[in-house]
Amino acid sequence: MKVVILDDADAVASYGADIFREQLQAKPASVFGLATGSTPLKLYRELIESNQQGDISFSEVRSFNLDEYMDLPPEHPQSYRYFMDEEFFKHIDIDRSNTHVPPGNADNPLTACREYEGAIAAAGGIDIQLLGIGRNGHIGFNEPTSCLASRTRVKTLTEETIADNARFFSEGETQPQLSITMGIGTIMEARLVVLLATGESKAEAIKAMVEGPVSAWCPASALQMHPATVVIVDEAAASAL
Ligand code: GLP
Repeated sequence: MKVVILDDADAVASYGADIFREQLQAKPASVFGLATGSTPLKLYRELIESNQQGDISFSEVRSFNLDEYMDLPPEHPQSYRYFMDEEFFKHIDIDRSNTHVPPGNADNPLTACREYEGAIAAAGGIDIQLLGIGRNGHIGFNEPTSCLASRTRVKTLTEETIADNARFFSEGETQPQLSITMGIGTIMEARLVVLLATGESKAEAIKAMVEGPVSAWCPASALQMHPATVVIVDEAAASAL
């Protein structure tokens, strides 16, 4: 695990964006694992700018998002599919049919999870998996006590995560308590993992992830066993190391 500590969130986004730019230059038909949340937004904006300037192209890229809320239709403004379309996909030259988000409203979630794993495998696996981290150390929606070898499946959200994400839902709006998420085992198969974290609220999670022990209580700590993980943090998120 390589840990890169930078001054601020802008520097974190640029460092992360450079990794994606270099990957695209080396392999235009890359397979990216993508993440939602507020942390990757600046990185997405950098990549949008580079794409619009013609420096990189996503025309051959296939993408697989980490997770999705259960029971929200893709057009729901709080769905992760909607987030990805609005914040990233509609601004770049990616073919939308090459973008995948776990189907949170599938009639048969168990089958949908197996199919999602199959689609990743059929694409040749993930070249770079982008991750954020929850305050409790979750990656994707793999909450504490998740099996470290888990695959894509339905997961119950913890109260802490529901509370952290409540800011995106308006008052009285039903907030999902279930998600469909790539497993930790799925994430561990990515050839390169790039995890971003900024701000003091992530400091304890970063400490638990980097300094261990490897434990299901901090799902991100499994990345200590991954052969190629880059953790990019600002000073605030690194402050407990
Ligand atoms: C959600 C997502 C995670 C994300 C986390 C942190 O729970 N499922 O993938 O890493 O939030 O979000 P933020 O970057 O907004 O702090």
